[in-house]
Amino acid sequence: MIVAVDGPSASGKGTVAKQLAAHYGLPHLDTGLLYRAVGYALAQSGAAPDDEAAAAEIAARIDPKAYDEQVLRSAAAGGAAAAVAAMPQVRRALLELQRGFAARPGGAVLDGRDIGTVICPDAHAKLWVTASAEERARRRHLELNGRGEAMEYEAVLAQLAERDARDASRKDAPAVQADDAVLLDTTTLSIDAAFEEARRIVDAALQGRGL
Ligand code: C5P
Repeated sequence: MIVAVDGPSASGKGTVAKQLAAHYGLPHLDTGLLYRAVGYALAQSGAAPDDEAAAAEIAARIDPKAYDEQVLRSAAAGGAAAAVAAMPQVRRALLELQRGFAARPGGAVLDGRDIGTVICPDAHAKLWVTASAEERARRRHLELNGRGEAMEYEAVLAQLAERDARDASRKDAPAVQADDAVLLDTTTLSIDAAFEEARRIVDAALQGRGL
């Protein structure tokens, strides 16, 4: 079974995806980390930030495990990720890697922005996880400050809005809810409550398919 969990930054999709994977005994791929690793590696390589050919070459052989996850989760790597994510050649280079992961025997849980629309349009269950911009900024602000990346809440909110707009408006694989994805708004939900709701949605989707 393939479960697609998409949504904007700090919506809770990563946490929900991880918990669903553990619950159903499936491997989990955080596809945002792939884009973060490509953006970071491009910056490290000294190539120009808009060098699409160089970014695609990096994407073709990227292994996010080769990088410190804390570094990849930084605000700077997030910005670099959104930039390379708008490059069609980069998305193409990462497509097969993601589809290969999804095709594992038994299935997988993938989280990102375009899993339900582009990577796995035939996923058995699709969720679009979101939360209000203010709540997402509050969570991201806490996370960044917890890691010692001091940033004002207002700056986090502005950065989030800018990144959302860039992700939703790009020509190639814009971050939008798939027609058949179920909306899960985590604004007022605890982590446990969000997981329970996600599990209910996935179970209902499986039942609907007679699985
Ligand atoms: O989810 P996360 O914040 O780690 O994603 C970082 C960036 O990677 C996003 O802002 C988006 O531009 C890009 N991304 C994407 N498609 C995915 C996952 C992430 O374009 N499937």
